[in-house]
Amino acid sequence: MYKKTNPKKIITSFLLLISFHLFAQPSPAESKEELPTDYLKKEFHEGRREALRQIMPDSSVIVVFAFPTRTFSNDVEYVYHANPDMYYFSGYKEPHSMLLIFKEEQSDADGNKFKEILFVQKKNAQAEQWTGKRLGVEGTNEKLGIKMALNGADFKNYTIDFSKFTKIIFDKFPDDIPNNYDNADLYDLVQQFKQKAEIPETLAKQTRFDTRSYRQLTGELRAIKTPEELDLLRKAVEISCQGQNEVMKAIRPDMSELEIQGLHEYVHKRYGAEGVGYGSIIGSGENGCILHYMENTKTKIGTSMILMDVGAEYHGYSADVTRTVPVDGKFSTEERAIYQLVYDAQEEAFKTLKDGSKFSDASKAAMDVIAEGLVKLGITKSKSEVHKYYPHGLGHHIGLDVHDRGAMSTLKKDMVITIEPGIYIPEGSNCDKKWWSIAVRIEDDLLITQNGYELLSHFAPRKIEEIEKLISQKSVLDNYKLPPLESGKKKGF
Ligand code: GLY
Ligand code: MN
Ligand code: MN
Repeated sequence: MYKKTNPKKIITSFLLLISFHLFAQPSPAESKEELPTDYLKKEFHEGRREALRQIMPDSSVIVVFAFPTRTFSNDVEYVYHANPDMYYFSGYKEPHSMLLIFKEEQSDADGNKFKEILFVQKKNAQAEQWTGKRLGVEGTNEKLGIKMALNGADFKNYTIDFSKFTKIIFDKFPDDIPNNYDNADLYDLVQQFKQKAEIPETLAKQTRFDTRSYRQLTGELRAIKTPEELDLLRKAVEISCQGQNEVMKAIRPDMSELEIQGLHEYVHKRYGAEGVGYGSIIGSGENGCILHYMENTKTKIGTSMILMDVGAEYHGYSADVTRTVPVDGKFSTEERAIYQLVYDAQEEAFKTLKDGSKFSDASKAAMDVIAEGLVKLGITKSKSEVHKYYPHGLGHHIGLDVHDRGAMSTLKKDMVITIEPGIYIPEGSNCDKKWWSIAVRIEDDLLITQNGYELLSHFAPRKIEEIEKLISQKSVLDNYKLPPLESGKKKGF
């Protein structure tokens, strides 16, 4: 049945609609202002290239290729994710590109001087109508401040004498590249580079063609975060914590894992995060025992605990935060015992952290607490069995990759790492049934400082009483009540 509507109201709404439409069209100048204003600046990328040059060997060149595009389905591609190295050293986020960074300044036959060359996607109005704006050569000059930018198609006939370099440093070539039959796609750039630089069939025992130094040199820089990167990471972490907090308040036993995932990711996007740094892990009960569970298909999460490992990606930087909470609002005796053990392990690991500390000390501290605790609870008979229920490492760097590049044997000021102990007791484990299907991971993101650390993810509670208190609160999301689907009423659904 339709509601009766007053004709006057219809005219007013029509006018409102027209005026909304007219005034809602932003002029090009206005629309620019509506973009985020906190992207990394070209000076950041330039600074990273300079820092790389400082640690590159004499007479060397580093070659960075874009990541390949990937097929999602038939003629549909996955949303493109730039190679973090390409982004870090240039700011360029498009596929089918190649960056050369030289230790020493180069000059070409026309007398142009340059320290890097970026081969980019050529501008193409038709392609841009389908897949979005391209920076092109001019945009790369202006927006990224890279003077020597050329179209990818120009690489084929570009004269560059690779034989003069003592070291040619690159990562393993991007594999499984779909060849688009375009004469300047990533496939061609890789083939032409191999030809021009005379890359041998096998790289084993090669020192001039150096794939080992690539990750070491880039990792050395990427592991230490600059103030600009820290701003973005702090934001990604805070947003992820707000997702955890809002979900803790909104969670109900009749919700599905997918719905919980949606609520986290809605909060992320509400705060401007473009996506997630990895597939969100929402595992209720037994599903929490699968370390990287991403199906999230359980339709009713029920009253057991739920493990939520979710990280917002903000302007390329990814957080990685896990909270494990009792859906019914109260930890049971067994859940409480396991949770407290993981919490204590995390606290012991925290105490070891500071500039110059060994990550192995943090790992050992956490492992010892869990190993002893499991024996005390009667879940294991000896400390050596700990790996059965704590089968992963304590943490990793975060940054442009959620498992970010860089060594971490010795921690240094301005590294950002996770500390994420966990205990997982799958059904059928060799212990009393009362422990089965309990899975707890607590994962926090920390900035290493001179004398200790800063807990970046302090926004989301970790203590048992604080979690129980938060779950009892109301959420703004409680009011989002959607009607059941019509199709859901049909037999068979
Ligand atoms: N979210 C994956 C991890 O914690 O490493
Ligand atoms: Mn992690
Ligand atoms: Mn995680």
